Amino acid sequence: MRICPQELYAPYAKEENLKRIGRAFVLGGAGGVVFASLFLHPYGAVKAAKSLKPLLAGADVNPIVSALVERSCQNCHSEKTEWPWYSYVAPISWMVEGDVAQARSRMNLSHWDEYTIEKQQELLGRIGAAIRSRQMPPDRYTLMHPSTKLSPIERDQLYQWTHAERSRLKSVMSTPEGQKPRARIHSTAARSRRAIHPGLLCCLTQVNARLFSTNYKKFVP
Ligand code: HEC
Repeated sequence: MRICPQELYAPYAKEENLKRIGRAFVLGGAGGVVFASLFLHPYGAVKAAKSLKPLLAGADVNPIVSALVERSCQNCHSEKTEWPWYSYVAPISWMVEGDVAQARSRMNLSHWDEYTIEKQQELLGRIGAAIRSRQMPPDRYTLMHPSTKLSPIERDQLYQWTHAERSRLKSVMSTPEGQKPRARIHSTAARSRRAIHPGLLCCLTQVNARLFSTNYKKFVP
């Protein structure tokens, strides 16, 4: 009896085929994940926004508050985000980028000095509320990063600071400095005009007019 070689190898060939299909699945899946991780960013180029500027620029912060904000808020609410490795792997990357994009849109501590004083005051109120209600930092984040949890004392330190900074801004608002529109451009013409007080100018004009009453029209055009 002759044995056909194909019959002899049939079971092995089947096994080989299954292995091949399995490999194709794994490779295809991995390729899909790599593709999605590299090219699909539903929240835009969130990772591209980077800033070395200190957080809360322009605010009166002490080192304790700075350290707390850097430890527990910076990763989401600033452009100094440290991205963990899994934030590069889809679909987790979409969740993390979405979270950071949303957090920055609500409050970006890298651009604090660009908020108006009114906006800063509003945000300080929101920070205080978010800390008191333990809404921030979010539980889903502190679960993954236990070192970012705030103790009751630390919550209180941050809360007290929001109060102090709000009062400071309130007093700034009541000074002429605070009334000024921000980022005012001081032209040299404006500065030289301000060099002489309007009252003094008026007084000098009148003295001038008395002394030279006859020639008044010649001196003051
Ligand atoms: C895991 C990222 C993450 C961290 C860390 C984080 N936040 Fe948030 N935060 C968010 C997101 C997302 C939102 C917007 C969604 C929302 O309003 O629930 C938000 C919203 C806020 C708001 C606006 C809330 C409002 O009333 O509109 C404030 C204020 C805030 N966070 C303060 C903080 C402070 C202070 C810390 C640090 C102690 C902090 N966050 C840490 C993600 C984060």
